[in-house]
Amino acid sequence: MKKLIAGNWKMNGSRSGNADLLQAIVAGLPVGVCDVVVCPPALYVADVIQAVQGSAILVGSQDVSAAEKGAFTGELSAAMLHEHGVRFAIVGHSERRQFHGESDAMVGAKAQAALAKGVTPIVCVGETLEQREAGQTQAVVKRQLAAAIHAVGHCVSEIVVAYEPVWAIGTGQTATPEQAQEVHAVLRAQLRAATETADAVRIVYGGSMNAANAASLLAQPDIDGGLIGGASLKAADFLSIIQAAS
Ligand code: 13P
Repeated sequence: MKKLIAGNWKMNGSRSGNADLLQAIVAGLPVGVCDVVVCPPALYVADVIQAVQGSAILVGSQDVSAAEKGAFTGELSAAMLHEHGVRFAIVGHSERRQFHGESDAMVGAKAQAALAKGVTPIVCVGETLEQREAGQTQAVVKRQLAAAIHAVGHCVSEIVVAYEPVWAIGTGQTATPEQAQEVHAVLRAQLRAATETADAVRIVYGGSMNAANAASLLAQPDIDGGLIGGASLKAADFLSIIQAAS
């Protein structure tokens, strides 16, 4: 299956910096490229959509509301995102779970709200260091994915799953290809129990993925792409990862 490389810019960037970054990425995109998504802060989405027009790059959001509309100050609905050309939405990133108290049920509701409006949710799961050391990794990621599977029902084959071990995010401490593959295989088995088309669901890895380690991670049988933070802010690094996936 075609791999997916998504850049999560988090709360970084500026209008001029984004323009430079995107110009360099678009200029350097390989032929026969894998699927490429960039997820800027919401305020820049319209600029970014314009900057990538005519290229193979798609645009994603870093979050989406679980609600359709109404009194939800500060939120953006899936319909609004879709209207602006946003085709993916990260849901349940560990930073949202940690700093915004997002529960498994809320993350599932967000995934469902996105799908209902034609936006593909990238559902993030992952254990903390404490949970890994306590031997709870599989139980944690299975619980998180189960909530999303439950919420999206028969649309499960339309989601993207991102395994992002919390201890690997922004730390430079990447999961080894074997550690990541082990968890991806667990997630794949869980998807197989939910849908006949589980093998078409992309399970991407995130957490200090960079130009140097991308190829070995992407070579694993159940690693179908990457969700890249820091390295997606440097055109050369992001392009190297895209190259490794293409
Ligand atoms: P880093 O690549 O900076 O570790 O971030 C990963 C991430 O959280 C992507 O969503």
